[in-house]
Amino acid sequence: MKCLPSIEKVNGIWNLYVDGQPFTALSGEIHNSSASNLRYMKEQVWPYLREMNMNSVAVPIYWEKIEAIENEFDFTLLDGILKQAREEEMKLTLLWFGLWKNGISSYVPEWVKTDGSKYLRVRNSNGKAMDVISPLCEVAVEADKKAFMKVMSHLKEVDAEEQTVIMVQVENEIGLLGSDRDYSTYANEQYEKKIPKVMVELYSVSGTWEEAFKENAPEYFMEYYYAKAIERIACESKLVYGLPMYVNAWLEKFPWRPGGYPSGGPIARFIKLWHGIAPSISVYSPDIYSSDFVGVCDEYTIEDNPLLIPEVRRDAMNSSNVFYAIGKYNVLCYSPFGIEDFKKPLELLTGLSNPNLMKTLKIDTSAFNCDKTAGYLSKSYGILNSMMPLIRKCREDRKLHSFIRKDEHERGCVIEMKDYDVRINFQNNQVGIPKSAGIILEIADNEFYIIGTSVNYTVMPKKNENVTVGFLNLEEGEFENGEFVAFEVLNGDERYFTNLYDMPSINRVKLYKY
Ligand code: DGJ
Repeated sequence: MKCLPSIEKVNGIWNLYVDGQPFTALSGEIHNSSASNLRYMKEQVWPYLREMNMNSVAVPIYWEKIEAIENEFDFTLLDGILKQAREEEMKLTLLWFGLWKNGISSYVPEWVKTDGSKYLRVRNSNGKAMDVISPLCEVAVEADKKAFMKVMSHLKEVDAEEQTVIMVQVENEIGLLGSDRDYSTYANEQYEKKIPKVMVELYSVSGTWEEAFKENAPEYFMEYYYAKAIERIACESKLVYGLPMYVNAWLEKFPWRPGGYPSGGPIARFIKLWHGIAPSISVYSPDIYSSDFVGVCDEYTIEDNPLLIPEVRRDAMNSSNVFYAIGKYNVLCYSPFGIEDFKKPLELLTGLSNPNLMKTLKIDTSAFNCDKTAGYLSKSYGILNSMMPLIRKCREDRKLHSFIRKDEHERGCVIEMKDYDVRINFQNNQVGIPKSAGIILEIADNEFYIIGTSVNYTVMPKKNENVTVGFLNLEEGEFENGEFVAFEVLNGDERYFTNLYDMPSINRVKLYKY
């Protein structure tokens, strides 16, 4: 058998490995319901992913479809998706929509939904049952675990050779919305008890949940039980078929109260807890719809957590985040949501950008506008893909630099290379145009590539040098089979305005001093 995909840290650098080689998933996530019908996938999804320069796609699989009747497992849909993905030469990340999806239990099979005495629901502080099966309900967690195990065993059987599936997301944006914790009788009993030993060890506190965590006790309580449930669901499956598994988070946001965002999900503050309680999970991942892309990435890379972005804003302005995600954080996967929309004619779009839906999901409407994104994103993916071996080499040699306009007041930045400094002037943000971002690859003492968008740049001598910097050569081009092919030598007026325009591009720059 080939070696399985894995997430490993080698020489201080986290990578996803596929077939033994580092693999950066330049991806997109399809809409929640698209994979429920193979014909829909064939006609309305795959054709619109072609020419996006993606190498992978994130696709949901649904417990309610796989085990519609208890103990009877049907993999027709999954097998069909595998076949289609292979025909399209696309790798897959599967999203397990099991007990929880966006906090609620909408994807559990009917036999779970309708048996409230066996599969216990969370109750809010008024004692009202919610649309959420409780993570404290061991019978429900066990049922999910069993179904998930069947999926992973099936994958081992049908995909271990081909390895079309490279990762699995366990559940989707878990946590409790609308209440800070479960107030059912059983949950209340647990809440009054002393905290488990593992929590004592992790946080050096003791006593009951409230004694240990004071006013934050409800959130810690839910975090513990969700993490425990996820570990139970994932652990044995991981032993059966050890694909990398990650858990994604609906981020903490205004008004900053658990229950306003899902209480119990892997938000950045709790990565330490999740590492301690759910060791089968390789990565905790942010779904980034906020405009503070860099802030979120920074938070999620503490605690030695690799960066994997399963969902991200889809507007053109933020499409250039992919350069920074790769340059700065070596992101394992970058994946805007609803990717099949990007190339679709407007009249075929499903109306999911509806402002009321966005309000319910607490997503800023502008994050969902994918007008013009396809061209920018596919060009970015194309450039990054064609240069990936060089990007990896420069990272290993510590010769990779990245830049991004973090906020609307930033005018630029200076990248310090060994013998030269590059001043990057940012452009003002404009809706529908990628904001300034890119990467510099320092390939020799007097030579670099700059890739990215919406900047102009000047090369300066080092601070203490009384010399002038000149271009030996300035070219725009692209990479073909690992080699740079110049299509223009920029030796005239362009030298006064060394630009990367809105459409992402590559410049090769050779310098000298006089
Ligand atoms: C985040 C969720 O994880 C996705 O499944 C989807 O619901 C998007 N929000 C918004 O459509």
